[in-house]
Amino acid sequence: MTEDFLHRIRHKGLRERVVSAEQAASLIHDGMVLGMSGFTRAGEAKAVPMALAERARQNPMKVTLMTGASLGNDLDKTMAEAQLLSRRIPFMSDPALRRAINAGEVMYIDQHLSETVEQLRTCQLPPVDIAIIEAVAITEQGGILPTTSVGNSASFALLAEKVIVEINLSQSEQLEGLHDIYIPTYRPTRTPIPVVSAESRVGFPFIPVPPERIAAIVISTKLDSSSTVQEPDEETRAIAGHLTDFLKNEVAHSRLPSHLQPLQAGIGTIANAVLHGFIDSPFHDLTMYSEVLQDSTFDLMDAGKMVFASGSSITLSAPKYAEVMARFQDYKPKLILRPQEISNHPEVVRRLGLICINTALEFDIYGNVNSTHVMGTNMMNGIGGSGDFARNAFLSVFVTKSLAKGGRISSVVPMVSHVDHTEHDVDILVTEQGLADLRGLAPRERARVIIRNCVAPEWRPALEDYLGRALVRGGHTPHLLEEALSWHDRLRRTGSMRPE
Ligand code: COA
Repeated sequence: MTEDFLHRIRHKGLRERVVSAEQAASLIHDGMVLGMSGFTRAGEAKAVPMALAERARQNPMKVTLMTGASLGNDLDKTMAEAQLLSRRIPFMSDPALRRAINAGEVMYIDQHLSETVEQLRTCQLPPVDIAIIEAVAITEQGGILPTTSVGNSASFALLAEKVIVEINLSQSEQLEGLHDIYIPTYRPTRTPIPVVSAESRVGFPFIPVPPERIAAIVISTKLDSSSTVQEPDEETRAIAGHLTDFLKNEVAHSRLPSHLQPLQAGIGTIANAVLHGFIDSPFHDLTMYSEVLQDSTFDLMDAGKMVFASGSSITLSAPKYAEVMARFQDYKPKLILRPQEISNHPEVVRRLGLICINTALEFDIYGNVNSTHVMGTNMMNGIGGSGDFARNAFLSVFVTKSLAKGGRISSVVPMVSHVDHTEHDVDILVTEQGLADLRGLAPRERARVIIRNCVAPEWRPALEDYLGRALVRGGHTPHLLEEALSWHDRLRRTGSMRPE
């Protein structure tokens, strides 16, 4: 036992519960429901799931796994390949698990990220048998100090029968004090969630778990995986430019202040690039009320543009992680990590009036957005928090490149093959071609603006032709039902949406 190890378990009585990852994993039995820390590749328990996957390889077993969101360190891959997962809730982004889900081997409940623990708390989901939570340390009272994410960890730990804590010695103790753990009261007598600004601190800096429910403590040292976000390219820079110009115009017309409203930006390369684009904008004193804090958040702070950021996780590239941790005491007063039901809570999102920027796989000429299903059939990642934010936003923005797969796919189609965000939840659409402001427009008007501003030039005539013929047939939202999904059908048959 090293000094480091001991002083991280400040509740002396809990020190005797330190066991190996294999011993902790042996508490888990076939058919159990596990609630695990981890949100967008940050702060996941690392040693116990690996030991469990190894066990499942030797002696087949199945569990239901709930997390905050996607896991790093190839954990979803490892568990999927060990055929350990029967059910996975509420978000993932791993190719191997995606394959198992699309093959029907893993039942995937793709859920709004704010909803999982609401359903758990009210017994609408099966109860969590064991929570496995990564921690920086355990307090004198037995409280768990989370690491780089909060996600659903607090409610998992509070609701589970037993808790396994993984103390990660590689996670800096400077993280203590970053978290704000607030659990809403029961409905229908719930009091308002007292978050009134991105900076509001309303809860505890630790997860208050009764120490007797901590069944095992495991020591781990593996770092979070670094983010896989790509550098901005010409097209994502163009998307950022269109959105910045639009927001400047909103400020010029006094519809927004020069510090805008708090920003939310979704996962992925495009949303990160868009946020990055704000570095060269005239906006200042920006705040963020989002779920994942990516490199761009810290770049905006370094550029003196952003004054505060609230999220549920910090997911950074390797160089940015080193930079941020080296100067963490400078950033810490400007950061809060919250449970995902609070970072994504409809009540708070609506109260704070967020500008929400999320990514579409495709959208249609009326502004319905598909963020999850390729060809209406195959799961990509999941809806994540995009629905929590889009429905309740001050401004709901969706971004995407106008073309995918080398131009074989138009991201603007007559009708989306799956709807995650209906036209009612979408205000602004942006591609590298331009921006469509849909506010106050009826479907026929929306279609004209979207086709004119967002579609790649080579696909514009085909959509104009479709709309023209649909308008002849009439209706509030004119469609040619026999043709509406023909672009996807052609893609399925020929590998391209282009006419044969
Ligand atoms: N049809 C089929 N595939 C498409 C497509 C379309 N219309 N548009 C894009 N793609 C493919 C891309 O080619 C790429 O494929 P690859 O992985 O084989 O290279 C993949 O989808 C990802 O697209 P990319 O352009 O790299 O964007 P991204 O990294 O920003 O991810 C989403 C885009 C939509 C998949 C991602 O943002 C997501 O999962 N969103 C839903 C969850 C969410 O919004 N959460 C927000 C709150 S955190």
